[in-house]
Amino acid sequence: MYCGTWAPFIRPRFGDIEVTTAATQSSQQLATDPLALIDVDHVRFYVGNAKQAAYFYAHTFGFEISQVADLTTGSREEADYLLTQGNIRLLLTTPLTKDHPAAEEIKLYGDGVKDIALTVFDAEKSWKAAVANGAESAQDPRTLSDETGTVTVASIKTYGRAIHTFVSRTGSYDLPSIKKGAPFMPTFKPIDSPVNEYNRKNPAGLKYVDHCVGNVEEGKMNYWVEWYENVMEFKMFKHFDDADISTEYSALMSKVMASGNHLIKMPINEPAEGKKKSQILEYLEWHDMTPGVQHLALRTDDELASVAALRNRGVDFLSLPDTYYEQVWGRVNKMLTENGHEPVKEDHEMIKDLGILVDADDEGYLLQLFTKPLQDRPTLFFEIISRHGSQSFGKGNFKALFEALELEQERRGNL
Ligand code: FE2
Repeated sequence: MYCGTWAPFIRPRFGDIEVTTAATQSSQQLATDPLALIDVDHVRFYVGNAKQAAYFYAHTFGFEISQVADLTTGSREEADYLLTQGNIRLLLTTPLTKDHPAAEEIKLYGDGVKDIALTVFDAEKSWKAAVANGAESAQDPRTLSDETGTVTVASIKTYGRAIHTFVSRTGSYDLPSIKKGAPFMPTFKPIDSPVNEYNRKNPAGLKYVDHCVGNVEEGKMNYWVEWYENVMEFKMFKHFDDADISTEYSALMSKVMASGNHLIKMPINEPAEGKKKSQILEYLEWHDMTPGVQHLALRTDDELASVAALRNRGVDFLSLPDTYYEQVWGRVNKMLTENGHEPVKEDHEMIKDLGILVDADDEGYLLQLFTKPLQDRPTLFFEIISRHGSQSFGKGNFKALFEALELEQERRGNL
């Protein structure tokens, strides 16, 4: 195991991080379909102390602490910190009063994701279409405005404690202006911090949300698959990982739903019978037996540089059995050459030293690595992923991963 600094592996070639989204779509298409998605507007976390959590995500994952809404800006009910990196926007929300709904949720679930918010052309129309398709409303449409523009938000409930907020923006509240530093919503103001300066000079290279995985109760996966089809008009992604992940170790079932333009993919897991307690069941038990977001996968163009940078910053990643690398190159490179692709181009020894996982399918390969839980409860974690043709989710790594996860569960006394 490598014990020194990871600096030798950092190849600082991210340059200026261009704003990238997972997919593009013609504006005509977007304007006529109320459930067409423009972007992932933001991912909102409910946390116990947003001021401190902001420094955790900034320091360990390289996010800039861009904006704040709190008592000093006229926000009397909650404090919100907007963290940005590439085209990722995390919103950390802390209740300022005991009656704020986040206060009860933090008591039940600890820190975690509340909302996968989606930018659309007209949030009210999107909300109406989703409700007409069978969604339960979480918040009726409301518009925040001032002389510079408007932000309209309206929310629907999805699995467990999670919601989707539709967000439409005009004037200087549109996403291109926000990316240049304009206020995120009324009451937000830009802030700066020495950690931002450091992060601009030492980027971690994370660009956008590749996928967002939900854990639901046993027997409920297909219900939520149909919900995403009917309500959000998503489609089953062609590369879903289905029965073939049910090994003796896997103990989960998973299907992947994708928005029409593949802007976002939402795999849905449910626990399955396995040798030991399912990691999905462990999540649920520490989440008041309530479904929620299990992990966010953040995309980078350079897995080795990103993982090296994040390790240097102190991110705690899952470690794999050493035997993993004895088998992986045979499996992956065989799959690639059989399908007419070049073998994995990154240095194999560096991949091993950084503890990165590799998988391939008929379209190419991917590199991925999973963090340990981001808070004290074994619930939410991040995945750092780069894709080289492959559009799948690393099912070839499941057996190795489950062994690693079981070791962690055992350490927590949860097996
Ligand atoms: Fe994932």
